[in-house]
Amino acid sequence: MTRTLDGTEISRVMRAEMAQEVAALQAAGVTPGLSVVLVGNNPASQAYVASKTRACEALGMRGQTLTLPEDVSKDELFAVIDRLNNDASVHGILVQLPLPAHLPYKAVLEHIHPAKDVDGFHPVNAGLAFVGDPRAFVPCTPAGIMEMLRREDIPTRGKHVVIVGRSLIVSKPLASLLMAPGPDATVTLTHRHTPDLASFTRQADILIVAVGKQNLITADMVKPGVVVIDVGQNRVPDAGAPRGYRMVGDVDYDALLPIASAITPVPGGVGPMTITMLLANTIQAARQARA
Ligand code: GUN
Repeated sequence: MTRTLDGTEISRVMRAEMAQEVAALQAAGVTPGLSVVLVGNNPASQAYVASKTRACEALGMRGQTLTLPEDVSKDELFAVIDRLNNDASVHGILVQLPLPAHLPYKAVLEHIHPAKDVDGFHPVNAGLAFVGDPRAFVPCTPAGIMEMLRREDIPTRGKHVVIVGRSLIVSKPLASLLMAPGPDATVTLTHRHTPDLASFTRQADILIVAVGKQNLITADMVKPGVVVIDVGQNRVPDAGAPRGYRMVGDVDYDALLPIASAITPVPGGVGPMTITMLLANTIQAARQARA
């Protein structure tokens, strides 16, 4: 029987645990606060941002969105970030990506104070995470995948984890987390220039796909019993769906379901875990700000 890894349910349990932590911090006079900066009016980004701040408020945290016009200048955006960096009631700052092309996103991300960088995208946090320093903010998607594997009792020690994709946000930090002492996995990282991708994916005990391409992984590319973690979030037009589209991942879910031992659905797999870890990082930021 294939297990469906239910990120919504794991998140529900984790958020109930975190609500207690938030209550304890509040009793000590601190309400963890997250400020999200959204540039422009991309509907997908608006929806993501709204779900992030809603999730904060549901836990008793402060969630605030600052919306700036599409044509905001770099200096104006930096001034907003400076203000948040200097505001003691703001523990976490997140600038929603993608940014309009005229804004240098790397410089923008580096402008966020590392102690408030709950996305974990600042080079200081990437470096701390790489050396295994517990003060690091670990990017939310890889952190969520690690938490999901742990809570679902999926062993990683000595397992061959094959990751498809090489992004700074998901795959690179995930490779470093999985190979660290503790998880002790053997990690292979593949990407668009890897020849004969299937020869790698077929070796995977745990296959993690974070590319953004529907049906990239088909039934012939995996071995029986594989654990499949699908990070893809692709919109597929669907006239019958409420918004005119539905979400699918990067793997052919229906074909892999009977082959895998466990698999994450899309939606309801990795996605909810990502927001849950953003809440966890914001609580961590609030705790570390007091220390
Ligand atoms: N856009 C899509 N996912 C993310 C994320 O995790 N963080 C930020 N800042 N932007 C995103």
